[in-house]
Amino acid sequence: MTTTTAPLLKTTGMGINFGGLKAVDEVNLQVDPGEIVGLIGPNGAGKTTCFNMITGVYKPSRGSIELAGARIDGKSTPSINHLGIARTFQNIRLFRQLTVLDNVRVALHRQAGYGLLGALLRLSPYRRAEVSMRQRAEYLLDVFGLAERRWDRAGDLPYGEQRKLEVVRALATEPKLLLLDEPAAGMNPQETATLTALIQRLRQEFKVSVLLIEHDMSLVMKVCDRIYVLDYGKEIARGTPPEIQSNQQVIKAYLGEA
Ligand SMILES: Nc1ncnc2c1ncn2[C@@H]1O[C@H](COP(=O)(O)OP(=O)(O)O)[C@@H](O)[C@H]1O
Ligand SMILES: [Mg+2]
Repeated sequence: MTTTTAPLLKTTGMGINFGGLKAVDEVNLQVDPGEIVGLIGPNGAGKTTCFNMITGVYKPSRGSIELAGARIDGKSTPSINHLGIARTFQNIRLFRQLTVLDNVRVALHRQAGYGLLGALLRLSPYRRAEVSMRQRAEYLLDVFGLAERRWDRAGDLPYGEQRKLEVVRALATEPKLLLLDEPAAGMNPQETATLTALIQRLRQEFKVSVLLIEHDMSLVMKVCDRIYVLDYGKEIARGTPPEIQSNQQVIKAYLGEA
């Protein structure tokens, strides 16, 4: 008996132009179920633009994007989220005036397909869903060490905790694939070590696959099964962490600067 699993994510010849600039060109990425895959390269290489295409923020000029074998390129960001892809942003995007818990609840309500307003008014049809969402939100905050912060304003959290809250918020939508855009940026070594362990836990406990953009190589090399390297919008290498660390072209274009 043979079993074939479609890749969770597969981009084929994915590319986009901005004016005359080929920001991303012919990029072929694959993430299999349960994998943690790195996407690295110098600033301006096109990494965030890949995330923007995968999540429907930008429509690719070329190529295709498949989630579990079905085309998703051209779909809207909310429908792609609904199909199972969630992300965090390089520049943190939280509702700074809302509490930590409400930031997570807003994400959950979007996923459930009805407004936070209905829930806040406690309209009866929403009550049961509200209880389980609340439990899920509290559980995720607990896992990420944010439970004691749940009544704090998100904008008052230290930077590292805001980054963790972004991950919690993305996870709240129960994605199959989580895209993390520089989650360790601005974190101190202690916070980065905690984040490293959390990313490893994501796969085990939440059965979520991860595509990770990150400049902290200690984090990337520790958590990634495989890595793609972009430079000027093109793939220049792919391989396991040891292969990437010893790749001369990667050292020249990127790792050598560090
Ligand atoms: N909306 C946009 N309009 C024009 N140029 C853009 C836009 N988004 C990104 N770019 C350009 O595309 C290139 C890749 O950017 P980006 O994906 O943000 O790189 P990275 O995340 O790898 O640092 C850069 O040259 C950037 O200036
Ligand atoms: Mg970026």
